[in-house]
Amino acid sequence: MNERILELFQETPEAYVSGEEISRRLNVSRTAIWKHIEELRAAGYEFEAAPRKGYRLVSKPDRWQVNKLLAGLQTKVLGQKVHVYGSVDSTQTIAHALVASGAQEGTIVLAEEQTAGRGRMGRAWHSPSGKGIWMSIVLTPRVPVYFMPQLTLLSAVALCRSIQKVCQVEIGIKWPNDLLIKGKKVSGILLESSGEDERLKYVIAGIGISVNLTTEDYPEALRSIATSLAIESGQVISRELLVQTFLLEFEDLYALYMDKGFAPIRLLWEALSVTLKRPIRTSTPSGFIEGIADSLDDSGALTVITPSGEKIKIYSGDIEL
Ligand code: BTN
Repeated sequence: MNERILELFQETPEAYVSGEEISRRLNVSRTAIWKHIEELRAAGYEFEAAPRKGYRLVSKPDRWQVNKLLAGLQTKVLGQKVHVYGSVDSTQTIAHALVASGAQEGTIVLAEEQTAGRGRMGRAWHSPSGKGIWMSIVLTPRVPVYFMPQLTLLSAVALCRSIQKVCQVEIGIKWPNDLLIKGKKVSGILLESSGEDERLKYVIAGIGISVNLTTEDYPEALRSIATSLAIESGQVISRELLVQTFLLEFEDLYALYMDKGFAPIRLLWEALSVTLKRPIRTSTPSGFIEGIADSLDDSGALTVITPSGEKIKIYSGDIEL
């Protein structure tokens, strides 16, 4: 409903829209309208209300509200230092540069917009202004380089759980780390690392969440495969609340991982997976594989059982469900 109210205001930008008109066109009561306007205000939309004229949309929440973000942050390390930018090529590039100039673990980089957002496997990541969480996190895990896939799966679990908490949508993880709602991608993770003598020097965890995009914000080619939290939940989502919730979830899981290893993370991942026990297809350098996705192994690889009963492990790449 909030989406539809916003669309109505966007038909005649800067004009007042009366409560009566909203009520008639959207078939909702005046009390319900007031409730939705209050929700939109909480998400950062500014409205002016005038007697007999109605409401006017004054500004949209297209700027990170850093004070609000910091005020509600309950983490000890993640997000204790925040760098916020308007338009950047990629928050990953900025985060790498910050590490080179001494940035500590937990530093985060947020941008309103990315002009060259990077996805996995050399793809681009659509990152329009003010609509999403385009964030990079500096991590310095004391684990060997070959543990990177585990950290990727941990990030997916943290993302999935935080989105469930904030948006109450049915969301699941497609191996290794795509978050899907009704089969469409809503969020992605890109981990980039620098290692020395087989140990990780640092990791930049790039998190992309399509939060408040409308269908029109997507290019035609993405509309059938991508979606946003606002489209799926019917609500405008507070980006600040989602970042706070995600960072806390990530910090807790990261502590659990450092203490107990990958086993508990693997169980959580399996419970949220939309991949396991389903038929999948994937292409690998040595050919095309089809089979049933069976389980995750300790390294984070996906075991697939082919129609002939052979067990094949997939370590990287993309799968089709
Ligand atoms: C994927 O392909 O699923 C991964 C997408 C990762 C996108 C995020 S947005 C913030 C960070 N900066 C980037 O350029 N990419 C990551």
